[in-house]
Amino acid sequence: MKPMQPVRGTADLMPRQKSQMNIVLEKASLIASRYGFQDMETPIFEFTEVFSRPLGESSDVVAKETYSFEDRGGSSLTLRPEGTASVMRALISNGLTQSLPQKFFYAGPMFRYERPQKGRMRQFHQIGCEYIGSFNPLSDAEVIGCAAQFLSELGVLDSCILHLNSLGDGQSRDAYRVALVAFLSDYKNELSSDSQRRLNENPLRILDSKADEDREILKNAPQLPAFLTSQAQQHFEHVTNALDKAGINWQLDTNLVRGLDYYSHTAFEFITEELGSQGTVLGGGRYDGLSAMLGGPDIGAVGFAAGVERLALLIEQKQEFTYDIAVVIADDNASSDGFALAQNLRLQGLKIDIPMAPQLGKKLKRASLIGCKLSFIIGENEIKSDTIQVKIMTTGEQKQMETSQALLFAATFLKHGLEGNLSE
Ligand code: HAM
Repeated sequence: MKPMQPVRGTADLMPRQKSQMNIVLEKASLIASRYGFQDMETPIFEFTEVFSRPLGESSDVVAKETYSFEDRGGSSLTLRPEGTASVMRALISNGLTQSLPQKFFYAGPMFRYERPQKGRMRQFHQIGCEYIGSFNPLSDAEVIGCAAQFLSELGVLDSCILHLNSLGDGQSRDAYRVALVAFLSDYKNELSSDSQRRLNENPLRILDSKADEDREILKNAPQLPAFLTSQAQQHFEHVTNALDKAGINWQLDTNLVRGLDYYSHTAFEFITEELGSQGTVLGGGRYDGLSAMLGGPDIGAVGFAAGVERLALLIEQKQEFTYDIAVVIADDNASSDGFALAQNLRLQGLKIDIPMAPQLGKKLKRASLIGCKLSFIIGENEIKSDTIQVKIMTTGEQKQMETSQALLFAATFLKHGLEGNLSE
């Protein structure tokens, strides 16, 4: 039988990748808490309507990428492709629309049926922050500030550029849509087939196109900022002034429209060149209309989400897994005592391995290979005399010590690293 493989676009998160992802998750949760975002979680699947309207029936995510199915009761359900719509649904379902603002942090798997490639998966993980209940442009700056600090403390901000745009309010976008469609209609046959389709369904998404023929035509297209109402312009200025004052670098990107329909006003992405075509590590924006689309009241909100796998690819492996002590069992008769010693040390909070190999030399080799700082070697003689052979793995120095003395030595060594100081 052919060995089983994981489903295309999914991945087993093996220890190395998982530990890098954990660094991302821990940092995100820490920084989010400094801004007052509280941890919460929504279900992995929702009724399909939670996503279909807010994200846009014609958006790629809804039109081509959702994992939707009918359950045994006949309900149409969808595996969540993103977190924002679910978080807003949860806020409404839990009766929190009268207790605003609410700031939420979440992390977990998302599902999109996309063409897999490096940094693009069908099951991937996001961390996200949602600041719900404020129309104030300062909350946009707060959310962007949180995202920038998170990336900075991960050590990747310098390799990213913050792209920023304003999508304005509904009135701004309606006016712009008319002008854009009028302009692009003259080039209809020269546009890529995707863009020809979008011209009717969702013309603003054409700005996002990567196709060369579209990019060429777009060079002369009308630009969104010229169509912002004065209110929308003011909102954007407040955001950019706040970012400038706080020293957060950004770049205006008038083609940035984001792939989901619920956005208005501020839209932003942190993009790196180090990951090839999947360089957007974090994206977000304001989504004032989302609550109403889900049957809630008119609520201002802004947030972001970041791709955990993409960030994990970007950060260096900061820490290999290492042990403090290897309990090396010199002969089989000492194995129960060796196990008891290892357990005792683990209960004291130390990371302990018992190397398994046929001979003493190979056990010590293994202890060195897996990064143990010390080896405690015990055999029958050591048990009889209540002693341990303590070996410092980096220097190779070894000395027999009474068990209590060995434990004291290890505590000091592991704390201060008294290399080669076994004689004291
Ligand atoms: P998004 O831009 O669709 O926004 O996704 C956010 C991030 O998730 C992307 O920047 C990327 O790093 C990662 N990502 C998306 N798709 C994949 C994939 N197939 N494989 C790997 N990583 C991926 C949202 O999801 C919005 N909910 C963000 C938001 C929150 N807006 C307001 N609040």
